[in-house]
Amino acid sequence: MLAATIYGLPAVHGEGPLSHSVSLLILAVVLVLGACAPATGSQQSPSQGGLSGEIRIGAVWSLTGGGAVYGASQQKAAELAVAALNDGSYLGSGKITLITEDDRSTKEGAQAAFEKLINQDKVVALLGPTLSANALAADPIAQAKKIVVLGVSNTAGGITEMGDFVFRNSLPESAVQPNTIKATQTKLGYKRVALMYGDDDAFTKAGYDVFKAALDQAKVEILTTETFKRGDTDYSAQLTKIRTLNPDAIVVSALAEEAAGIMSQARQLGIPATVRFIGGNGFNSPQLAKLAGPAAEGAISGAAWFVAGSTAPNKTFVDAYRTKYGASPDQFSAQAYAGVYLMASALKSANSSNPLAIRDALLKMKDVDTVLGKFSFSPGREPIHDPVVQVIKNGEFALFQ
Ligand code: ALA
Repeated sequence: MLAATIYGLPAVHGEGPLSHSVSLLILAVVLVLGACAPATGSQQSPSQGGLSGEIRIGAVWSLTGGGAVYGASQQKAAELAVAALNDGSYLGSGKITLITEDDRSTKEGAQAAFEKLINQDKVVALLGPTLSANALAADPIAQAKKIVVLGVSNTAGGITEMGDFVFRNSLPESAVQPNTIKATQTKLGYKRVALMYGDDDAFTKAGYDVFKAALDQAKVEILTTETFKRGDTDYSAQLTKIRTLNPDAIVVSALAEEAAGIMSQARQLGIPATVRFIGGNGFNSPQLAKLAGPAAEGAISGAAWFVAGSTAPNKTFVDAYRTKYGASPDQFSAQAYAGVYLMASALKSANSSNPLAIRDALLKMKDVDTVLGKFSFSPGREPIHDPVVQVIKNGEFALFQ
């Protein structure tokens, strides 16, 4: 019930409709929490029990560079969540301060951000970083210091395997894309595909492995496997070869910028719109349709969240985000928003900002109401909830059905 209650909070600061009964409920929660928690104005030491004063959480997003299409959404949603929690006194007199760093979409940037946040800012937990490749480089720093790091967009393999302080709420490619291939193959009946992937990035390589296995399993013939690198802008050699092979569909494991380039050039080279693009988590930014324009129409991707999801927490979130930012949230913002709430929920149930207590509280979470749906962590600190399949229709994400 508590989780359902906290998700009503965004309306407190005037970012959505607020019913009378919800107002009373929030007021009751605020009064109870306010009575329980001692008030201090200082930063809480990470080892301190109880919750009061400033509780620092670090966030590392890719705000510049190739990952910025995702990082900007993450930053907005995380700030929205923190404001709602603080305005609603969710942690009593404890207030979350979110300290955000830009990793510039680089491993070195992510490592430097983790060092600063842990050693200088003394954060009690971390969110991010945006890209799996950077998480693989930076998360060991948090693990060595025994500070929880919660990935909210990392979907490659090998993330939670880095240690017992590493969590993610982002469904990995392996939990999403077999379902994408099954659903699309059943509906579209493709038999022969071309496969393209970035071979220098942890996420795009992981997506390739999963797609390859799922296509083999579905007995779909892979006519050719073409590779590219991050930052490439010319895909004409690969796409010209693919055109001559005349596939039924093109399966692509790419981040959004490269995916947009591939889609645009494929249509320019005369690969018809009936040859659909099918991709992974990299496709799930509205920037894809903005960058590729009509060439992105009909592109299909497995995702962890859908904007029109009908649960109360999701509606509250989507309304609050639209009101504040004048645009719809995307899957990356939903996962970042859920990440802040999961962290706050862990702090609250632990009644402590001790990193070990936060870790143990996260591990105990079961069927928490989040914008991602009912959410639990597996014993291996992986997310447990259902994936969806989306398709770009008139420039917007719709459910593929
Ligand atoms: N899902 C992408 C990654 O893991 C953003 O790198």
